[in-house]
Amino acid sequence: MNKELRYKVPSELLEEEAKRELAALAEEIKIHDIEYYEDNNPTVDDVYYDGLRRRFDTLASYFPRLPISTEIMEKVGSAPAAGFNKITHSEPMLSLANAFDREDVLEFSERVRRFLRLGPEITLELVAEPKIDGLSASLRYEKGELIYGATRGDGTTGEDITKNLLTIGDIPKTLTKQVPDVLEVRGEVYMTKSAFEELNVSQEAIGKSKFSNPRNAAAGSLRQLDPSITAARSLNFFAYSWGQVSSMKIDTHFDFLNLFEMNGFVVNELTEICNSVDQVLSCHEKIHKRREQLPYEIDGMVYKVNRLDWQNRMGSISRSPRWAVAHKFPAEQIETRLIQIDIQVGRTGVLTPVGRLEPVKVGGVIVSNVTLHNEDEIQRKDIRVGDRVVVQRAGDVIPQVVRVNRDARSQYSEKFIFPKKCPSCGSETRRGEGEAARKCVAGLFCDAQAVERLRHFVSKNALDIEGLGEKQIRSFWEKGWIRNPADIFCLKRYRDELEMLPGWGGKSIENLFEAIENSRVTKFDRFIYGLGIPQVGQQTAKLLAENYIDIEHWQIEMIRCTQGDEVAWDLLTNIDQIGESVGQDLLDFFNQKGNLDIINALATELSIEPYVPEKTSQSKITGKTVVFTGTLVGMGRAEAKAFAEKNGAKVSNSISQKTDYLVAGEAAGTKAKKAEQLGVSILSEQEWMAMLDEESS
Ligand code: IVH
Repeated sequence: MNKELRYKVPSELLEEEAKRELAALAEEIKIHDIEYYEDNNPTVDDVYYDGLRRRFDTLASYFPRLPISTEIMEKVGSAPAAGFNKITHSEPMLSLANAFDREDVLEFSERVRRFLRLGPEITLELVAEPKIDGLSASLRYEKGELIYGATRGDGTTGEDITKNLLTIGDIPKTLTKQVPDVLEVRGEVYMTKSAFEELNVSQEAIGKSKFSNPRNAAAGSLRQLDPSITAARSLNFFAYSWGQVSSMKIDTHFDFLNLFEMNGFVVNELTEICNSVDQVLSCHEKIHKRREQLPYEIDGMVYKVNRLDWQNRMGSISRSPRWAVAHKFPAEQIETRLIQIDIQVGRTGVLTPVGRLEPVKVGGVIVSNVTLHNEDEIQRKDIRVGDRVVVQRAGDVIPQVVRVNRDARSQYSEKFIFPKKCPSCGSETRRGEGEAARKCVAGLFCDAQAVERLRHFVSKNALDIEGLGEKQIRSFWEKGWIRNPADIFCLKRYRDELEMLPGWGGKSIENLFEAIENSRVTKFDRFIYGLGIPQVGQQTAKLLAENYIDIEHWQIEMIRCTQGDEVAWDLLTNIDQIGESVGQDLLDFFNQKGNLDIINALATELSIEPYVPEKTSQSKITGKTVVFTGTLVGMGRAEAKAFAEKNGAKVSNSISQKTDYLVAGEAAGTKAKKAEQLGVSILSEQEWMAMLDEESS
């Protein structure tokens, strides 16, 4: 979500303040980089992001003595993702400096002239090209044959996405016309607006989430490990730059573009040679007007010095060439009416106000919803239902309300009062000190949070129930079979219905029930963690388990806290690393009767083992992965699992290369066969027990 940027001018800042601000900026930029490049899911728009970067650059150059995060200075993208091979670019893939208005462009042109010492009588040719909103890629050809194609990655190292790029029609496999031995062609992979719309229709039809814009859709499609998925998506490519090139006679950028075109690449048809700043500016204006009609998304223009000898003389600084600049389009602002403010409850309980608008077209897209961020934002901008509001959709991402048109406000309008109760479950809400978000404290029984909380409850570090992923939980939740964690243990009553569901066969149902049974014996700290109480992660759960030893004790003490018992409260908040803030979250949780009911129900279904201090000595089975199969005579499956875990082993439900031991009870079936094939040691129940005895003696 975008925050408003209000900065002090650098001259008003002490060096110490600048240092702090730079560190904070670096931190924030890093987060947005990951969201944008790795998750393909930006949470702020380009204008906001560019603002952060500009502020960073301004402070960095104003305070040259401060240590600057070179990672941010030089970073032009993201590190390669797992799953693809890495490719080190022979020449780094650079980024572009930004210009936002006429003055910035003039300054760019002056800088170039000064650098090259061009007198006023000399014409500076600039090539103006649209700035395509996609992802850059580098294609390496040797003797005219495509050797590989890579993403930009962090500018130095990218991912090998050759197979995916080969599915794009605009990318030729071989080049034949006047091609040097080595030629790296660079450009932008993008998705047209219509292909994006079509893709979203089919995503929706198969129940998958929609992409928020063509750039994200292109990124998601290109970074598929399975190239047949990329092939099924419609992607395009514009060539506009190059990397390594073995010697050849070319004098200008424009000639390079012609060479690309000759060899079957697509060069953007709006590319133009301009002879003055006025000319690039009018080109900018002309294309800005046509922006909506274009079949693909662009977010500005790029101006490049045409003469290559001049480009070479200029070189680049940190992450961008001195001879080029990106002139961004301003964010479009449109006025419309705010019809209503709804409060949405997110999966972690955060209440987010959403403005419902009279639909308007902003930046080429119909906008009818707008996030209002939080209650302070509504207060600060004094946004009221019925107001005429100015909406902005910068580049491609989340629309926002810039300001309210006070002149058009009705005299009867009323201040918006942010609700104090959760609109989903009616429970109390709370805002922590220094926090912007108001949260529903209901925890386990708030419907809006249910699926996420259930997912957390069964996750690896909590109850660890294999086979119960988000998809299954959602489907069971929608059927009303599981509403809270305790319901998971009564799932067996829906066995017959489950058999009728697509995707569920005898074996998978068996496995699911087995996993559920195995989870009935659990450790106290895992149980606490599984409740998903805000701020109670694994570490805090362990601390609580260590201090309260068992569930009965803990529950009694927590209830005492809610009743204002000072001794109980001191006991809690004096635990090293647990303070008042965590204490308050625990209080909120135990103050809800619904949560107590769920804990009680769980306590009857589960066997929650009291806390046992961790064994420090390494044993023969510490860290080993064990699978049980068949009927165990000595003890039940759940008990055997708990016993193994107590002795430091990991228990899994399925055999894989990672399995160390298969403990085979009576009538062991296919798992034993699989273990044999994989060379996993098979132990009888007696052998296993003997091994444990050795451990404990
Ligand atoms: S030139 C050496 N030209 O914008 C300069 N980039 O902010 C390399 N982009 O990474 C880039 N259209 O992903 C160039 N006509 C164009 C472009 C363009 C879009 C993207 C590209 C680049 C980013 C830089």
